Amino acid sequence: MTKRSPALQHFIDSLQQAVFEGDLPDAAKPAATRIFDALAAEDGRQEPPTAKRLPVCDHLPAAFENAKAGPDRTVQLGAAFAAVEPQLTWIIKPVGDEHFRANHANAVVVGVDGIEQRNDVRIGVSLVAPNTHYPDHTHPPEEIYAVLSDGAWRQNEGAWRKPGLGGTVHNVPNILHGMRSYDTPLLAVWSLWVGG
Ligand SMILES: [Fe+2]
Repeated sequence: MTKRSPALQHFIDSLQQAVFEGDLPDAAKPAATRIFDALAAEDGRQEPPTAKRLPVCDHLPAAFENAKAGPDRTVQLGAAFAAVEPQLTWIIKPVGDEHFRANHANAVVVGVDGIEQRNDVRIGVSLVAPNTHYPDHTHPPEEIYAVLSDGAWRQNEGAWRKPGLGGTVHNVPNILHGMRSYDTPLLAVWSLWVGG
């Protein structure tokens, strides 16, 4: 098995720091611990997909620049993500209207279709162009976001909350949740525990 590249390890370490040093609620800590313990215990298969950018990725430079206004952990995570981004396959989530499909993209860093293939953890990134609503959705795995931009998140169609740069969002299993950008691109790293 090939070992994780230093760039990917640095991204994982930076994400761990951003998650635990942010405002992570206590309820999210067991899942976060499970995710990062699994990543520390074992490298998955290093098999990067064919890299592919989408037109919305033209917003990446602005998003990376904006992340530099955050706390140190956010600056570091933004730079660590920028270093692995050229290896990623950006994809469109096939839901929502035409505006949404043209104005967002997701990429998996760790997990199926990621740089490191494994079945217990799924870590990826969402990029949302300005003034776009990422539709509310649900999924069984618990989810933790590390936020690298402005933008707002909501759960169960409740009030919009702005975690801010360096903030976190915790979605318990199957909760209805969505996000939206305002006048700058939204960039966030999500981590899911998908193991048994
Ligand atoms: Fe989600």
